[in-house]
Amino acid sequence: MQSQDKLVIEGRQPLNGKVSISGAKNSVLKLMGAAILTDSPIELRNVPQLSDVSVMSDVLRHLGVTVTQKDDVMIIEAKDITRTEASYDHVSKMRASFIVLGALLGRHHEARVSLPGGCSIGKRGVDLHIKGLQSLGAEIQINQGYVEACATRLEGREILLDTPSVGATENIMLAAVLAEGATIISNAAQEPEIADLANFLNAIGADVSGAGSTEIIINGVKKQDLHGTTYTIMPDRIEAATYMIAAAGTEGNVLLENVIPGHLNSVIRKLEDVGAEIITEGPNALRVIGDGRFEAQNIVTQPYPGFPTDLQAPFMALLTTAEGVSIITETLYENRFKQIGELNRMGANIQNQGDIAVVTGVDHLTGAQVKASDLRAGAALVIAGLQAEGTTEICDLHHIDRGYEELVSKLSGLGANIQRVPFDESGVVPASQDKAAVE
Ligand code: EPZ
Repeated sequence: MQSQDKLVIEGRQPLNGKVSISGAKNSVLKLMGAAILTDSPIELRNVPQLSDVSVMSDVLRHLGVTVTQKDDVMIIEAKDITRTEASYDHVSKMRASFIVLGALLGRHHEARVSLPGGCSIGKRGVDLHIKGLQSLGAEIQINQGYVEACATRLEGREILLDTPSVGATENIMLAAVLAEGATIISNAAQEPEIADLANFLNAIGADVSGAGSTEIIINGVKKQDLHGTTYTIMPDRIEAATYMIAAAGTEGNVLLENVIPGHLNSVIRKLEDVGAEIITEGPNALRVIGDGRFEAQNIVTQPYPGFPTDLQAPFMALLTTAEGVSIITETLYENRFKQIGELNRMGANIQNQGDIAVVTGVDHLTGAQVKASDLRAGAALVIAGLQAEGTTEICDLHHIDRGYEELVSKLSGLGANIQRVPFDESGVVPASQDKAAVE
């Protein structure tokens, strides 16, 4: 797969049929980091083949860890960690790799991990990660863009997060697994990926309770208590919701398999308010039926269980043709409205000031050449292209490749007219790859 490729979509084909949802990107990346807490082999199943997973594999290999992947099964063996450093090259490609800080500190009591810096969607500080690890007894210095952490011993503490950061909750959890005594994280992130991480940690011998609520308790265990396991990654709720929105937007009828409906409550509610029908078909399947009626909605992004920021752009694409005026407020990131310019090029009517976007519904979108600026903005353009009249060409696909496994074959399987073609076939000048765009 070449990142210089482009997607070519002929819109207005209703999506129909079944699609199986892959393992969750935002879970597997953290479980890969957690796997290095033990020197025993870990087998992860339902691992999606994504560029972010490859980057994380490289980060672990750089530490001396063996990582092999065949189809959706990954084996990680951290017998000997030969380095305790994650370089700028790695962390600047993917900020999720910052999770090795907590794991290395927990296992080796030392780590040198590049600061991720800002990224294409916002400032995204790591102050809460650092404060949390300091509370556990780590000495931390920032030196030449690196977080240098060491500890003679880590001791459990009560840590109150200023904001329920997903990454900070996870980094503290990993460092606390091998700390002495109990760590209590209050105002913890409640995202399902946190519960998946806790379930994995317990499966390797850790003692974590409360994950998925605002208070997580980690009772420290000894290194020798940790062991290998086989663990299946939970389904990707953001990928699932992206297909749900696309199904509604194309007036389709799609059965999503391998989903956990309870993880999707906020998006189910909004899709129903828009006018789509959502039917639960068994414990792991949902049907979405769009009947072409779209009513404007107000959306405010919130930490889980609120409406996810990662679906703000995809949902905006749906609302471009809703009847009435929708107001979307992005509360998590300063710069996550980059899809607006591209959607307006397709005929949408979206005004934006600060953290608010006002979407005035139009009759229809029209295909255009557009550029993905980040992962979820890219997903929004795919949804818009599926809804639009005529041909949409989307470039800068390296963003989309980070988070959507087999996007083209899954959408084609649902009847979409979508192809991935090399960029130079079109005569369009390739857009430069935005190296700073890291989610
Ligand atoms: C995770 O990022 C996800 N990434 C993001 O998904 C997602 O948007 C985000 O959680 C919120 O749900 C992964 O899991 C790999 P945060 P994370 O720490 O952990 C501020 C996608 O598209 N903050 O919960 O980095 C921060 O600036 C990606 O798949 C601090 O100020 O998110 C943000 O405004 C994009 N200081 C807010 O908290 C800190 O120390 C939430 O960030 C940490 C965070």
